[in-house]
Amino acid sequence: MKANKGLNIKRLEPSRLSEVVELADRIFKPKDGSMGANFPILFSKKNARNILVIEEDNKIVSMVGVYYAYAQIFTSRIKVVFMGAVCTDENYRGKGYATRLTYEAAQIALKNDAALMMIHGDNDIYRNFGAVDAGTYFTIEIKPTQNSYSHKLKIATESDLKKMAIWHSKEPVRFIRSFANFKIFHKVGHAWDGHAKTFIGDKVYITVVEKEKTYHCIEFAGDPNEVAALIQNFVNEYGKLTVHLNLGNKDCISRLLLEIPQQRQFYGTMRVLDKFKLLDQLKDYLDESISGTDKGMLNVKLSNFDDSDFTKIVFGSAEGLPQFTHEIFPVPLPDYHGMDYI
Ligand SMILES: CC(C)(COP(=O)(O)OP(=O)(O)OC[C@H]1O[C@@H](n2cnc3c(N)ncnc32)[C@H](O)[C@@H]1OP(=O)(O)O)[C@@H](O)C(=O)NCCC(=O)NCCS
Repeated sequence: MKANKGLNIKRLEPSRLSEVVELADRIFKPKDGSMGANFPILFSKKNARNILVIEEDNKIVSMVGVYYAYAQIFTSRIKVVFMGAVCTDENYRGKGYATRLTYEAAQIALKNDAALMMIHGDNDIYRNFGAVDAGTYFTIEIKPTQNSYSHKLKIATESDLKKMAIWHSKEPVRFIRSFANFKIFHKVGHAWDGHAKTFIGDKVYITVVEKEKTYHCIEFAGDPNEVAALIQNFVNEYGKLTVHLNLGNKDCISRLLLEIPQQRQFYGTMRVLDKFKLLDQLKDYLDESISGTDKGMLNVKLSNFDDSDFTKIVFGSAEGLPQFTHEIFPVPLPDYHGMDYI
């Protein structure tokens, strides 16, 4: 990775949090709204030092928002670094600042043991850095039916959080979410750049975001039969819904809702930062499926690919794959456009 010699890249001092929120608001929320309010975990004093900034003329002129999470993938847990809210003050663009910050964020993330970077966005900066479309995600479209179900639509309240957190913790493919963060996400009710509403059943919840006049179910947890019933109830009451699925939950939910899943792109880009670190973090998952000898051979073959192709091979890609397949791939990955989205 490129070095960042001669450039004044700093970790954000918590006392200067309001300056980066102002910069991000100016660029992403020119009319109204607040990045600080929408993304309280990213823009928190606790996380401030993960945010990287460049200062010039005594002010912060460029930033990348960074925070860390763990993706649970059946028996394995990988450390992921999220990057978003990347912006440069209009008067300081084209000087390579966002590019340098991206490389620096990756270097620091590697030192912090993160194996995968998931980026909110897709542009030349991230593509030049080696990030690609990857991750195998699906959608199903649900339309109203004549059937009605006994599960009534009830908006989840704070008193439901304990149950919801327990159901979420049992999902096989998810981001690990502390109860405290669960509470914050619920309170903020912001996901995928929209207002998120969570509906609760006896044994499940579904979270829905309205985006460009279409409803999207971006997260659910709990008993699959009841998830399907609650989804159908939502559709019968509100209208058409797109349900977003990952490789860990698509078969069950799409079968119950009698729809054929369509593969879709990841809404952003991602890149494995260190192939061997990633394989090591996936060890338990891989050990269950392939023998030690096969794994050794697989590692050798995979080492021939660059990080971008490796990312596509391991997690799949809607953009097409390099000339290499293996039955254990793609590995499921949670989608960070759920409530964990920054
Ligand atoms: C995108 C943005 C962060 C780039 O910041 P920057 O400090 O000027 O970036 P750099 O100087 O490192 O790189 C500019 C490069 O990015 C490319 N680029 C990609 N998207 C761009 C955009 N929306 N605006 C300007 N440049 C963009 C340019 O082509 C240029 O490529 P080059 O290296 O071949 O010249 C800045 O334009 C910005 O704040 N835009 C608004 C917010 C935004 O879109 N953020 C990205 C969210 S995905």
